[in-house]
Amino acid sequence: MDLRALLEGPSEVEQAAVDDLLGPPESGWEGGHFTGLDGHVAYGGHAARERRNLLLPALHAVQDAAGSVSKGALGYISKRLTVPPAEAYGVATFYALINTVSRAPTLLHVCDDIVCAVYGADELKRSLERELGPPGATGPGISWAPSPCLGQCERAPAALIHTAGSGYRNVAPAEAASLTSLAFDELPTGLIHQDRDELRLLHRIGAVDPESLDAYRSTGGYSGLEKAIAMGRDGLIGDLDVSGLRGRGGAAFPIGIKWRGVADAGGDVKYVIANGDESEPGTFKDRILMEGDPFAVIEAMTIAGFATGATRGFAYVRGEYPVAERRLMNAIDQARDAGLLGPDVAGAGFAFEIEVRRGAGAYICGEETALFASIEGQRGEPRQKPPFPTEKGVFGKPTSVNNIETLVAVLAVLQMGSAEFAAIGTERSTGPKLFCISGDVARPGLYEVPFGTTLRQLMTLAGGVRDGASVGAVLVGGAAGSFVDGNSLDIELTFEGAAAAQTGLGSGAVIVFDDSTDFGPVLRRIAQFFRDESCGQCVPCRIGTVRQEEALARLAANSPLGDVAEERQRLDDLARVMTDASICGLGQTAASAVQSAFRLGLPGAAL
Ligand SMILES: Cc1cc2nc3c(=O)[nH]c(=O)nc-3n(C[C@H](O)[C@H](O)[C@H](O)COP(=O)(O)O)c2cc1C
Ligand code: SF4
Ligand code: FES
Repeated sequence: MDLRALLEGPSEVEQAAVDDLLGPPESGWEGGHFTGLDGHVAYGGHAARERRNLLLPALHAVQDAAGSVSKGALGYISKRLTVPPAEAYGVATFYALINTVSRAPTLLHVCDDIVCAVYGADELKRSLERELGPPGATGPGISWAPSPCLGQCERAPAALIHTAGSGYRNVAPAEAASLTSLAFDELPTGLIHQDRDELRLLHRIGAVDPESLDAYRSTGGYSGLEKAIAMGRDGLIGDLDVSGLRGRGGAAFPIGIKWRGVADAGGDVKYVIANGDESEPGTFKDRILMEGDPFAVIEAMTIAGFATGATRGFAYVRGEYPVAERRLMNAIDQARDAGLLGPDVAGAGFAFEIEVRRGAGAYICGEETALFASIEGQRGEPRQKPPFPTEKGVFGKPTSVNNIETLVAVLAVLQMGSAEFAAIGTERSTGPKLFCISGDVARPGLYEVPFGTTLRQLMTLAGGVRDGASVGAVLVGGAAGSFVDGNSLDIELTFEGAAAAQTGLGSGAVIVFDDSTDFGPVLRRIAQFFRDESCGQCVPCRIGTVRQEEALARLAANSPLGDVAEERQRLDDLARVMTDASICGLGQTAASAVQSAFRLGLPGAAL
């Protein structure tokens, strides 16, 4: 890009959006220049570091108002935040949802990921192509573009609509006619197919008004915070140790150890982060929790603040989840009005505030250190660990990052007692667990079961394979997970049981494919996903994910480089290098599903 274009200045709409967020500029802005004392803008330095974290919110503000971020707007944001223009450009272009070229006022993001493919995403794309022309963000009215998983897999196929001036809306199941006429209803929060009385994590979903603090409190809400305060910091963290609660975001780290690490870290400034980035294909549990029980997320974050001594929290919400974002913001406002956030939470003598931050279409930003970078206004690139977040997290301060489900499970521990929580499941995997079941099952959806439930039992809860077909394979743990076949349905769904079956629970995604599935296209879509989502920072992942996808495409086209055996060997070598030498979990798991499909000899996989 010609960076001189950044001097063109923003449109009126764009400037108003930035000024709404940042306040009016201290000096004037005319014809591409500040007209302050000397009209001079010094980029970098202390002021830039202070305000840099507002970069992504400012980009969102412009895009929400104008549909895209023009070069002039980018230049204006750079000057207002004193962020060097090239860096602002680097950040804006990092995120899939930020358009830096002028685009159609309405853009349809149409999921063509592995679950939506089972539910006719290809046909939907063909219809849109007939009506709206080829994919691409530009055009006069409505245009469309393919998207990775939108976190609506239980009601596939899914779409996300962005309209300049009115923001994002989810549509699922999506049909070409309703998409092109922009006629669709508000989606309900996810359907719960189980008896709510037996549920510990999902009991309010769909039954209690998610926009009312009174409704939340009348169903036991905020009794957890009360108990936590009565126990005191040490008592609470000790209780979490007894519960055996381990993180539900993929790494299964014990929460008691994490919270104690932050509580014991020195310094006055500490942070709590709720990780609602949830972009693993096949995963939608955190969306349902944030949309359906937002006060629970806010209460649990407040408890985390109390336990760790953090005074500020961020709820980082996937950009594709507008309802979750809105409901969390409403919950924060109501909690603040009721004195449950602020300088003296619940009159208990501690301060805690929460801010919602919106992601912008980058799977990697769910990785905790990339998430810090995203909040700080940098490109979402993971950092080396150590130092661990408990020592040096967001803004270089001790930080506790937890998955949304983990936080809600803290409330379950407080509600039922740590011993009772620990008695559910197995010794190493305690408590209730959420699984997102999608694909070829009769009742796709979110299910809460005790750890140790078998895959077969879980699938039975979801009505079994749809249309009476048999299982072809089940992808456990999402795109970063591994396939198991019909012979492994009795594996116990625990951290240790999944590891013994050469898979991992990951984010709790369980995607079922029936026995008519050709796994070739499924593997290629998974490989494309990792190729597109790699942050590009380290060579094994940046190059490996591209080469993996290319090799699979050549095998599918029956034109291997050398012969099939050579190509397979190349894929095995790539897998080893990515797994062993990548900086973060994305590269380390980018070959898992492909390799597991080869091991099992799934149809279409082992050409
Ligand atoms: C590529 C990648 C993506 C991730 N995405 C998420 C995510 O969307 N949500 C999440 O909670 N954890 C995600 N994680 C795991 C986080 O880094 C971190 O372990 C987790 O948020 C900690 O919370 P927990 O201890 O409650 O599980 C991801 C990890 C990797 C490597
Ligand atoms: S493994 Fe991939 S996503 Fe992770 S840091 Fe390296 S390039 Fe980025
Ligand atoms: S919404 Fe399409 S695969 Fe998840």
